[in-house]
Amino acid sequence: MVAGCIKIELTQFYQGTTILMTDQSPRNNTDTIDTQTLQRQDNHFVHPWESMYKLGANERTIITRAEGIYVYDSDGNKLIDAPAGMWCVNVGYGRREIADAMARQAVEMPYFSPFSMGAQPSSVLAERLAALAPGDLNHVFFTTGGSTAVDSALRFLGFYNNFLERPEKKHIISRGDAYHGSTYLSASVSGKARDKEFMDMERDFIHLISSPNPSRRPDGMTVEQFGEAAVKELEDKILELGADRVAGFIAEPILASGGVVVPPPGYHKACLEVCRKHDVLYISDEVVTGFGRLGHVFSSEPVFDIVPDMITCAKGLTSGYAPLGALLISDRLLEQVKGEEDEASFSSGFTYSGHPVSCAAALANLEIMERENVLEHARDVAPYFMDQLKTLTDLPLVMEVRGVGLMASVVCGIPGKESLELDYEIGNRIDKHCQRLGLLVRPIYHMCVMSPPLIITRPQIDQMVGILRQGIGLATDDLKAEGLWG
Ligand SMILES: Cc1ncc(COP(=O)(O)O)c(C=O)c1O
Repeated sequence: MVAGCIKIELTQFYQGTTILMTDQSPRNNTDTIDTQTLQRQDNHFVHPWESMYKLGANERTIITRAEGIYVYDSDGNKLIDAPAGMWCVNVGYGRREIADAMARQAVEMPYFSPFSMGAQPSSVLAERLAALAPGDLNHVFFTTGGSTAVDSALRFLGFYNNFLERPEKKHIISRGDAYHGSTYLSASVSGKARDKEFMDMERDFIHLISSPNPSRRPDGMTVEQFGEAAVKELEDKILELGADRVAGFIAEPILASGGVVVPPPGYHKACLEVCRKHDVLYISDEVVTGFGRLGHVFSSEPVFDIVPDMITCAKGLTSGYAPLGALLISDRLLEQVKGEEDEASFSSGFTYSGHPVSCAAALANLEIMERENVLEHARDVAPYFMDQLKTLTDLPLVMEVRGVGLMASVVCGIPGKESLELDYEIGNRIDKHCQRLGLLVRPIYHMCVMSPPLIITRPQIDQMVGILRQGIGLATDDLKAEGLWG
């Protein structure tokens, strides 16, 4: 068999007739193309966070197929996908049911304009999400992904305060280590300093407070005291700016791309109370934590005991099978901007808002989650997942293992040495060894983020942690051999 050539069956729907056909021909013109050619072609793709220096000279792994928690590269290597794509393939790969739902929708009615009419998949999904969301978050503004969901939430803050004739109440508070997206505004509320180099950001009305990372608390401070200080910092910032000038606070329940930062217990609830006290709206960015990563559809209420004013979500909503995001807005807010007949429109939206094919994928995805009790499974294996990862702390390169649910970060480093270059070196070496051994890691610098598909089993967790242990060991040997250790 030619490397990467796969036999597939396609279910085709045509004019209401279902035709089952076996297709053994190459797909997308790529299955018979060798890896080197694919890599050369891929060098025309400017990837997210592309290094300008390496552009055109990358030798990226090309993934050609996937099943369950595994992906296969164009040379046929089988790899555990520890980051679940990009924290998104929650129900795992190879779900025919989702593909069929998308195919059926694409044939029946691929697209219409959401600006004037409704369609079945987006209508059904909107009602479904409203029922799953906490409190009175009963309305859904569909977007194309997480960044546009966050952007829409931030634009809604502006709209809301303009309508209420408080044009000065526009300031937004976010946190260090936060990642909220890649549009101008969602990137501006992101707090990862290393991502801001050379990039323009909105600075006039956006303010960052410290990351609530307990691992970085000052010596002698308890986690509880650190949590209180973090909440106080939020309140101090609101008072410094003036409560009548602060529109909103945006927070990921767990700061995902910032390295799986788990704030101290009670932190979210106390922040929400501060926001309520000062009439500041709370946006919970559940783009990563939604749809099962923490064992619940939305984590805000069941895990953190908060009902925010808005929730943003994406990724696990379709398990990555199609791009889709959503902003859930509370009835309380919408009531306040109702106004007189045709007085105000929220003049924002996308050609692909509520795209029928993406919404069909989301409905099929939710169906699988319910039928297979995927969220219960995630809650069941999560403690084992964390316990097994914590066994790695006996390795000298592992400084900390932290996380919650099925998201964790294995933080590596050399005691007493800290630099961006060294972080890269450590992460790259672990990544290289693990991939060769059959595990895809997505190191964020020196942090190995583990967020596998939620369907992962205990034996697969053992396999994943076993390879990571080996990879970290080999990376340590490299660092020692190259004189970078000690
Ligand atoms: C918490 C959070 N918000 C927003 C986004 C942006 O989502 P997208 O890449 O779908 O635009 C991400 C992406 O990783 C995220 O982690």
